[in-house]
Order: sequence, then structure tokens, then C-alpha cells
Amino acid sequence: MKSFKLGVAALALSTGLAQAGDVEVLHWWTSGGEAAALNVLKDDLSGQGIGWQDMPVAGGGGTQAMTVLRARVTSGNAPTAVQMLGFDITDWAKEGALANLNDIAADKNWDAVVPEALQKFAKYDGKWVAAPVNVHSTNWVWANKKLMDELGIAQPQTWDEFVAALQKVKDAGYTALAHGGQAWQDATIFDAVAMSTGGADFYQKAFVDLDEAALGSDTMKEAFDRMTTLRGFVDDNFSGRDWNLATAMVINNEAGFQLMGDWAKGEFLNAGKTPNQDFLCYRFPGTQSQVTFNSDQFAMFDQNGKVSDEQAALAGAILSPTFQIAFNKVKGSVPARTDLDVSELDACGQQGYEEFKAASASGNLYGSFAHGHANKAAIKNAMYDVITAHFNGEYDSATAVQELVSAVQINK
Ligand code: BGC
Repeated sequence: MKSFKLGVAALALSTGLAQAGDVEVLHWWTSGGEAAALNVLKDDLSGQGIGWQDMPVAGGGGTQAMTVLRARVTSGNAPTAVQMLGFDITDWAKEGALANLNDIAADKNWDAVVPEALQKFAKYDGKWVAAPVNVHSTNWVWANKKLMDELGIAQPQTWDEFVAALQKVKDAGYTALAHGGQAWQDATIFDAVAMSTGGADFYQKAFVDLDEAALGSDTMKEAFDRMTTLRGFVDDNFSGRDWNLATAMVINNEAGFQLMGDWAKGEFLNAGKTPNQDFLCYRFPGTQSQVTFNSDQFAMFDQNGKVSDEQAALAGAILSPTFQIAFNKVKGSVPARTDLDVSELDACGQQGYEEFKAASASGNLYGSFAHGHANKAAIKNAMYDVITAHFNGEYDSATAVQELVSAVQINK
């Protein structure tokens, strides 16, 4: 018996299969900053005697991770827990694939502490089906402080001021905009550009309501025109570059700005950089009052109708106040609870937390379309295709607008 058990354990180790007492976690946190944040979670669980089977699937924004997940579930081998965004959670819950976490949620009082905007995705049909880890937002500018000082560039307040600042950096011989040419990164920029060009009502109509008039509007064309302007400020090697390598260009004084969600801050911190000393964080010009958010959540796959001890431990750990602070300090995001003292977060984190709450109170909080919080994956991916084709010069702005309208129609 003993040798049988040892054999099974050895097999599990060699194949990476999860054993009882382990959680197998599928996620896309593979950059330096992301891995550092993930370690906070692993350590928390190992402190509770729970082992960790890692299932990383590289690819920012999680598109590849969701493809791998589908294949795993189809072959009857779902992971214990999976990092998910917005409408992906809802879609899996609709399929009846997710475990009901209501007991642990009631025990830990999640209803009272998790913001409404996150509950919308963490719950399905009155049941908690995911544990939110954080709140990220996409409408940020990351700027190299040394270059800003050297070139006398103050925080741009408007689109025109931002273009002038980019031009100044370019003229000085640096890369103005550090960017990685991948569809999800192009869409992440478009998130902020569209919000800034058309304002909150436009964003709501076009990306949440999928209103044809808004999608096909002159405002949308102007947003695409602004993307063309930004395209003129990236370097020649941007194609296919990972987002964290773009962040590294800002960190290493090679580039002035990056437009990226606040997971970029995790890279600055991981490189030993400090907000306001080495880098600056501010909202994309023209979106100072808005927050386009996304929240990483861990959904637990149903295991014969019950929540395993390991799943319960993972869910409990994720929403515990100490973990929320420890993790989000490293990840660049802000806590998924509204009742915490965030004085331990750095300046960007405190700003992000206050802005999230203020935007929520004033009706300026929107789910990021680029990160799956405005519409289901089919729509998101259809939008990605158009935005990236335009960014790469396949479509002019007028064509991109038409393509966007028809892509949404087909996938609605
Ligand atoms: C996730 C972040 C992640 C980023 C880049 C986003 O969709 O919410 O947690 O760091 O993608 O991979």
C-alpha cells in the first residue's frame, strides 16, 4: 500500500498532476512582477499546508489561458481554480461548471465588503462563483520621471498636450511610446483613447450597450485617428513585444511613456523603482474622472457538487484582509474590498483606490472592454481583430469603423 501511495505521489509529481491537499491553479501571471505577486498567494496557502500545482499559460490579458482552459474542461480535466476576468466567469457559470462558494462567502461576509461592481461578476444567479483578488484599471499613463524632468514635460491634461509631450520625447531621440504590438495591448490603449475621445456616455453606448450608432459614429472614427497618431510614436520593433518588455523600456530610460493597466506598476516595483521618484502614474489625459476597471478573480471548478477543502482555503485566503493588502502592494492593483486601511499601499496604489471609489460613487466606473468586463469574449475578440488590424495599417479609420460595426453585429 505504502509503495502504491509513493508511486502515485511520484507520478503526480512527474506529471504535474494535482494531489489531494493541492490546488491546481491556471493563470497567466508569468512576468516578473506578476510572479512576485503570485508568490504571495502560494506562500499564504503553503502556510496552511496546501500545495500548489502551477499551470501558467503565458499571454497578457488571458486570451491563451482561456483557450487552454476550454481544452482542459472538454477533456474532463478541469483545474481546481482558474484566474478569470468578467464575462468569462459569467459564461462558465452559465454552463454550470463553477462551484457554489456561498457557504464561505456567508461565513466571511463577502456581501458586505466586496464592491457591487465586482459582485456583478463574482456572483451568478445569486451564488458566489468566484473570489475577487483585486481591482486593476486600464486608463493609466506610466512615465519615466528622469526623462520628464530632463525634457521639462509636465503631466499632460489633454489629448493635445499628450501628443505634444510624445513629440518632445521623440525629438530628443528616445522612443516616445513603449508598446507591444499584440491585439490585447492595442485594445488596452483603445480603452483609454475611446473613453477620452467620446467621454463616458459614448463609452457606455459603444462598448457596453453595443449601440450601432455609437459604434459607427464620427467619434469612433476620431478615436481610430488618435490610434494612428499614437502609432507614429512607437519604435520599429514594437510588433509582438510582450507588455512587460515595453514597461522595461520605460524603466531603463529608453522610452518616455507606456499606456497600460496598473499591472505595469508591478514591473516597476519588481525592478526596485519608486513612484514619484523614478516613475509617474496618472490617468490618460481626458479620463481623469473615469476608471475603466478589470478584476482578477479565481473561479473554482465544480468537483461533484461540493467545494473541496483546498478550494475553500484558497477562496478564504484570497479575500482575507491581510492577503488583500500584501498581494495588491506587489501586483499593482488595489484591494477587492472596500473596508481596508490602504495606507501601506504606495502613492499610485492609494490614488488608484481613491479614484476607484470616487468613480464608483459618481457613476464614472466602467468595466474595461479590453479586459472582458464590458461584453462576452466573442465580442471582445471581434473588437480586438479590428483594432489591431487598424493599428497595423490594414484599415484606414473609416474602414475600421465599418468593420467594427459589422464585427459586433455578427458576434452579438
Ligand atoms: C490581468 C492582470 C495581468 C494583465 C497582463 C490582465 O488582464 O487582469 O492581472 O497582469 O492582464 O497579463
